[in-house]
Amino acid sequence: MKLLVVLSLVAVACNASIVRHQRRFPDDFLFGTATASYQIEGAWNEDGKGENIWDYMVHNTPEVIRDLSNGDIAADSYHNYKRDVEMMRELGLDAYRFSISWARILPTGMANEVNPAGIAFYNNYINEMLKYNITPMATLYHWDLPQKLQDLGGFANPLFSDWFEDYARVVFENFGDRVKLFITFNEPREICYQGYGGDLKAPILNSTAMGTYLCAKHLVIAHAKAYHLYNKEFKPTQGGQCGITISVNWFGPATDSAEDQFAAEIKRQGEWGIYAHPIFSSEGGFPKEFSERVAEKSAQQGYRRSRLPEFTEEEKELVRGASDFFGVNHYTARLISATLYKEAAPVPSQVDDMDVGQYAPDDWATSASAWLALAPNSIFNALNHLKEKYNNPIFYVTENGWSTYYETGLEDDGRVTYYRASMESLLNCLDDGINLKGYMAWSLMDNFEWMQGYVERFGLYQVDFSDPARTRTPRKSAFVYKHIIKHRAVDY
Ligand code: NOJ
Repeated sequence: MKLLVVLSLVAVACNASIVRHQRRFPDDFLFGTATASYQIEGAWNEDGKGENIWDYMVHNTPEVIRDLSNGDIAADSYHNYKRDVEMMRELGLDAYRFSISWARILPTGMANEVNPAGIAFYNNYINEMLKYNITPMATLYHWDLPQKLQDLGGFANPLFSDWFEDYARVVFENFGDRVKLFITFNEPREICYQGYGGDLKAPILNSTAMGTYLCAKHLVIAHAKAYHLYNKEFKPTQGGQCGITISVNWFGPATDSAEDQFAAEIKRQGEWGIYAHPIFSSEGGFPKEFSERVAEKSAQQGYRRSRLPEFTEEEKELVRGASDFFGVNHYTARLISATLYKEAAPVPSQVDDMDVGQYAPDDWATSASAWLALAPNSIFNALNHLKEKYNNPIFYVTENGWSTYYETGLEDDGRVTYYRASMESLLNCLDDGINLKGYMAWSLMDNFEWMQGYVERFGLYQVDFSDPARTRTPRKSAFVYKHIIKHRAVDY
């Protein structure tokens, strides 16, 4: 009897150690991949699609794209969508995140004229996924604004939220019976800071922080209107969820000094807090310390009022709590140093966060993208911070991935290392009680990497852009991801 007890204790202990070494993802954790319409679809002017700000920019100022390429054909998913779904099946995906091209279904951007061919395309794509039990996650806006709305000022126009609400209604009405996970906007910072404030994305307005903040305010209001529309009119019968995706890279202090810690907080607030705080915090509105900083800087610059717009009480109420989940695009991290910031001269007058005081340590592996280094446990650092700050909402990691140069080909060991590190960091999140429900790898396949054209590749599948058929071939990382999904563990 004694021997039996001892033996079973040994067995339990062995099991425990196995469990410790083989942490597993829950069975209902959604593993997927992500893409975006302009980056993969091509067919830029086929079947009644309207022009968007990327079409306009690449055709009128082709020199802004590193290899002078464009997304006119891209991976030609408009014609290859069945192959895309076949790849999803090859990988064993639970879910697939894609985006809807606004101008493909509403050519002018306004909801008066719906393009039936555009609706049919997304119906076919969605139905093909559902045939194989792949959960569709649809993003309404991944950077391809109809040009006709840009001509009216785009996100800088306070009417933007009404245009977006009308568009969202068309999406929910047509696809909401089958799509249960909606994301309103992808990466507000890149839309506003890079496209309106700067010239790193279409519509390359380069209008300084003024454009960034106007865009930020109108964007979160548009998000909230679409959310409430879904909540009131569609959720009761369709039963899905509607959220937003924000780019949340990790910004930690370079040292433990109070100055660096404060600088890192300002950086986080300027980088993602201005979009997240109005929606996910209990007080609403733009984050406090960042608002104070802009007010202070504005005064130093001789302005009587802050350059940062405010939300009215009514707007705050509309936006606060308006999301079923927090979608996080996470790729990398930076350390923030107040000293470096002060030393940088001259500090651009309207950069209000700590862009110039950030760096990646030399021992972090580097990718083909200047901004993307492999930072230790950074998904956990970012999500744990958000969990504390915003009371642990439901999270999805809606993008995460690694770039290689196109010459790298199929043996993408750097990407394999990156994904394995990400998986460990995700498991740390789950162990910590972070309310994380799924993970979408960026990307299913190589695609048009915005200003970098086809130079930087993010695909689990390589796409041959010199071949009219746009042949797709799995890389080593595709096989590794497939096994992780199958075994729900990193080491199997
Ligand atoms: C995030 C963006 O959403 C996506 O469009 C882009 O390709 C990846 N980052 C990689 O840069």
